[in-house]
Amino acid sequence: MTEKKVYLNGEYLPLSEAKISVLDRGFLFGDGVYEVIPAYSGRLFCLEAHLQRLSNSLNAIRLSVPFDTAQWLDILQPLLIEGDAQYIYLQITRGVAGKRDHAFPEQCEATVFAMCSAIAPFEHQQGVKAITLDDVRWQLCNIKATTLLGNILLRQQAIDSGCVEAILIKDGYATEGAASNVFAVIDNVLVTPPLSNEILPGITRDVIIDLAQTNGLSLREQAISLETLQSASEIWLTSSTREILPVITLDNKPVGNGQVGEVWQTMQQFFQDYKRVVS
Ligand code: PDD
Repeated sequence: MTEKKVYLNGEYLPLSEAKISVLDRGFLFGDGVYEVIPAYSGRLFCLEAHLQRLSNSLNAIRLSVPFDTAQWLDILQPLLIEGDAQYIYLQITRGVAGKRDHAFPEQCEATVFAMCSAIAPFEHQQGVKAITLDDVRWQLCNIKATTLLGNILLRQQAIDSGCVEAILIKDGYATEGAASNVFAVIDNVLVTPPLSNEILPGITRDVIIDLAQTNGLSLREQAISLETLQSASEIWLTSSTREILPVITLDNKPVGNGQVGEVWQTMQQFFQDYKRVVS
């Protein structure tokens, strides 16, 4: 099997030949941002929205956007591999500085890296287990930063407890998953926490909100307390790589009747249809 090609600073290289300096600030400080862009049937899904979020993340860390949409498309398209569902991982760091110093270097060229991977088929239909954990992360969760130590420690704690994801609780309210946004069905209304610096503005979250609105499902962007979450009839986790994941057990207790819910089944159908239309 030929090794997959990745993009690094203007070149396409076999993965094993793509190397960065140990002085890269992404390596030393996690000083960078990233995107995960799904592609279905060879077409990038919601590309504009992902690039807009990338631009917001770059602005937030005071880096400028190196390419326009057409240039990004030229860079990313050749990375797409055979297969139905894939995703592009795209990372931009502040680049290689002359020495390790927390402050920004005066001159530095951003490191741009991208690769494509298959999206592993996931057992959506049966639902997954989640636990709630204290949201111990920082106050800039709206930036899609590579600095993910908080998220990975929380996700690992969930895995260690036999769960697929941690739902994070801050001051008594759900923020998001360790690597996903959260939705709950409460009194037949689909509810998701409003955008703020405490959550990532998920692209899948946006698609679901649009689909709910166009199809006449009741939806509210509203804070969800832990007690409300515990009494929800359905809980979902959403992300670009896992789409809409129904949670059937929260902290070892069944969510609703412990089965995948009807609202999820409806939304899942809308989402799959939408993917087909835009791909
Ligand atoms: N993560 N919140 C967090 C903290 C995330 O890391 C993610 C996605 C989301 C969902 O965003 P989107 O719908 O745009 O994928 C929410 C990606 C998949 C990752 O880090 O691999």
